[in-house]
Amino acid sequence: MKETDELQIDSLGDWKRTHDCGSLTGADVGCEVLLMGWVNSRRDLGSLIFIDLRDREGITQIVFDPNIGPAAHQRAHVLRNEWVCAVRGTVSPRLKGQENPKLPTGEIEVKASEIRILNRTETPPFQVDGSVDASETLRLKYRYLELRRKRVFENFRRRHLMTACVRDYLNRTGFIDVETPYLTKSTPEGARDYLVPSRVSKGHFYALPQSPQLFKQLLMVSGFDKYYQIVRCFRDEDLRADRQPEFTQIDLEMSFVNEDGVIAVVEGMLHELFHTIIGMEISLPIPRLEYHDAMERFGTDRPDMRFGLEIVEVTDLARESEFQVFKEAIEKDGAIKAIRVEGGAAAISRKQLDELSRQAVSLGARGLLSIKIGGEGWQSSMSKFLKEETKGAIDLRMGVKPGDMILLVADRRKTANQVLGQIRLELSKRLNLIKPGEYRLVWITKFPLLEYNEAEGRLDAVHHPFTSPLDEDLPLLERQPENARARAYDIVLNGSEIGGGSVRIHNTSLQERIFRLLGISKEQADMKFGFFLEALRYGAPPHAGIALGLDRLVAIMCGVDSIREVIAFPKTATASCLLSDAPSKVDSAQLEELGIRLIED
Ligand code: AMO
Repeated sequence: MKETDELQIDSLGDWKRTHDCGSLTGADVGCEVLLMGWVNSRRDLGSLIFIDLRDREGITQIVFDPNIGPAAHQRAHVLRNEWVCAVRGTVSPRLKGQENPKLPTGEIEVKASEIRILNRTETPPFQVDGSVDASETLRLKYRYLELRRKRVFENFRRRHLMTACVRDYLNRTGFIDVETPYLTKSTPEGARDYLVPSRVSKGHFYALPQSPQLFKQLLMVSGFDKYYQIVRCFRDEDLRADRQPEFTQIDLEMSFVNEDGVIAVVEGMLHELFHTIIGMEISLPIPRLEYHDAMERFGTDRPDMRFGLEIVEVTDLARESEFQVFKEAIEKDGAIKAIRVEGGAAAISRKQLDELSRQAVSLGARGLLSIKIGGEGWQSSMSKFLKEETKGAIDLRMGVKPGDMILLVADRRKTANQVLGQIRLELSKRLNLIKPGEYRLVWITKFPLLEYNEAEGRLDAVHHPFTSPLDEDLPLLERQPENARARAYDIVLNGSEIGGGSVRIHNTSLQERIFRLLGISKEQADMKFGFFLEALRYGAPPHAGIALGLDRLVAIMCGVDSIREVIAFPKTATASCLLSDAPSKVDSAQLEELGIRLIED
């Protein structure tokens, strides 16, 4: 590339772009235009040079013809992929047969009269517009190059349109956007905190907020009435496709409402989002399912409602059976749960059945029983152990037809539900039960308030400790705390939890009672949340709220599998940023200043 080493880079000068690279059509033929962008690809035929010029909006074919712009043609020989240039020229129809119906600009090309080369590039580590893709590590290290891809960029445009739509909706419905601190105290979402050392108060740390939970409640005490914020949250937890250490919430809080007040706002917002962004009308109200029913019928608190395969209880029908597997489960107070797979007798092969059984075992079940329904009834090794009337009753409850298959798990109730919940998801993939472009929402309500933490030997809040119990369950708090339900709700889209919230406790004595149950002493509570508990004593109104995981919502609405695709500069599974190399070591002077000494391994 000797030739290009001495290449002179042009300045933009007074050139002004007239169009982007995605908008010229046959209607523009004859117009003089000025385009700017990156060389997506080039073909140098000697006499004619073609480049595809790319910007975020699309691609336009440019032709350098020595008869039209001799100097431009001469200059264009040096162009390489990803160089940046500006081209002046005239829009012309492409030659017959040279049109590209796949491109919006495919009918035309721009015949270049002048070019300015605005920048060159080192050889990119991967082709921006390549058919063979680079590893994710390389793409994350050079994320700014990957973001040049139109397909990737479009996710960010959609994200932008979604946040604009959310803001517009909330602004119109009386919500006030308020920022809350990032350098704060530990908040109660239950993950590990990211800590920031204080230089001024050595040995003291801020925590980055896991959510603005306490501040938004304080704003209710302040009388702000309806608050929202599209806000970054920080949680040091194990990362997965739908979890990042920093992520964004659409966070809101309202005064003088119960759960229905919050649910109505979210439903209106989601309706507007789906309508504006993808032209889809979701039907309201969104169905609600109590937590207990979600667990029994779908084996999870985030059921995917795009397909059936519901889990059905047959414990009562199998109670009298002599079948050893059933007997044992029932004796141990377990349950027998089943799924009917329509047409499963033919659709699920022996091999697939073996794989499903292995999956069930790896998930903790003792096994997966299967029954093929033939014209003559059950075809199953367990058939001989059950009375005809028991089989008939199971058939009736499951609504089976010849050609179906029943899959059963007899185990501890929790195991049976969870395992069949996973098998249900697996079957939906194997049997292609999910139509592309389908969206199904469901509210999950009445979560348990508390759960037993076996490792620590105490009760934990399922949502967070400021969640109100159901009034009717208040008497259970001390007697059967694990049976008490919360005024908490999650919103689930296509099997993914996209939001969660609750009605809050606004009276101090109930709050103290909950802390007692959680084993948080008065001193501990004062140390952690004293400022907040004090605020509750100064006329806190009844209030409730929710936070939606924006990244998850955007990812689903973009049809991508991981939230990394909709975060401009995401982190890896080990919470590192391959682009900036964060986290990184700091020099000893900086540590000294913060009063920190590292323990060497
Ligand atoms: P919660 O902890 O349920 O509630 O969080 C709300 C929503 O945020 C999303 N989310 C995440 N997204 C990406 N990466 C993560 N690590 C991550 N963690 C959570 C999920 C989740 O449903 N303060 C309460 C809300 C309230 O009570 O108002 C809260 O944060 O989609």
